Amino acid sequence: MTNLQPVRKAVIPVAGNGTRFLPATKATPKEMLTIVDRPVVQYAVDEALQAGIEQIIFVTSRNKAAIEDYFDTSPELTASLTKAGKTAQVAQLEKMLPLAGTITYTRQQAPLGLGHAVWCARELVGNEPFALLLPDMVSFGPRGCMAGLMDLYQEVGGNVFAVEECAPQDTSSYGIIGVGNRVEHGVQVTDMVEKPDPAVAPSNYYLNGRYILQPQIFDLLESQERGAGNEIQLTDSMQRLAASQPFHAHPYTGRTFDCGSKRGFIEANVAFAMLRADLGEELAQSIQQLVSERRQSAHAA
Ligand code: UTP
Repeated sequence: MTNLQPVRKAVIPVAGNGTRFLPATKATPKEMLTIVDRPVVQYAVDEALQAGIEQIIFVTSRNKAAIEDYFDTSPELTASLTKAGKTAQVAQLEKMLPLAGTITYTRQQAPLGLGHAVWCARELVGNEPFALLLPDMVSFGPRGCMAGLMDLYQEVGGNVFAVEECAPQDTSSYGIIGVGNRVEHGVQVTDMVEKPDPAVAPSNYYLNGRYILQPQIFDLLESQERGAGNEIQLTDSMQRLAASQPFHAHPYTGRTFDCGSKRGFIEANVAFAMLRADLGEELAQSIQQLVSERRQSAHAA
């Protein structure tokens, strides 16, 4: 599509309480829990930058200062590593430091829901389309999910998000879409339903936490209406926006780990570690050993 406004900014909401990871999240933001040796949030930032995003906007909250510190210099650590001759580590820390001014922060003063967190970024986003990445949802595949979503956006414009297939019986755990006509990089969205019963779900394609939205979403979020769970839901405003603007979905060809759940978080750790030259082989052997021990003890019981 020609004459499209470019997507330069990405919003990453990190203001949730992370209650599913208590007690760990009492003092550590859940976005700073590590997948192998990098915090969860780093994966979303890398994915956004690889897709061509120039500016990251974090919607943060109290007790999340560790995220700001993580994306800043650490003079004491650098001095101590330099003194110890650990130049490779110093170079690694410098390499991952974002360019000054490319990360900004705004605070959500109370965790009123994802829709409210997105609305908190309205002044920093301004009047242009923006990407939204839920950092708990970690993409795993040869290409980041947001890069594929950009392809769809370039093709059709409007509002787009990424989807994946879930087991048909699991639709009641997700936001599910109705599927319309195919386009080159995705499908038209005919419906968006929050957590439908499998008997009435329009498909088994669920939203996996990657979006490109037009700024008119902020006008709809402005009303601050509460939805499911008494939270201000993003899906409610997207449904209203769909009355006047097109929505398309991009089926992600990789796989997303829901690192907001314990199982997804542990699976992500195993999957990413398996890819590492320094860990993969030995870890595979350890896991096989653990699985066989578990089978033996279940058999003996
Ligand atoms: P989740 O609902 O998965 O996060 O929101 P949570 O509320 O922190 O998790 P639990 O259920 O208590 O364990 C998805 C994303 O939206 C952000 C979260 O930080 C997470 O990245 N979020 C959610 C906000 O920024 N503000 C909110 O009010 C709610």
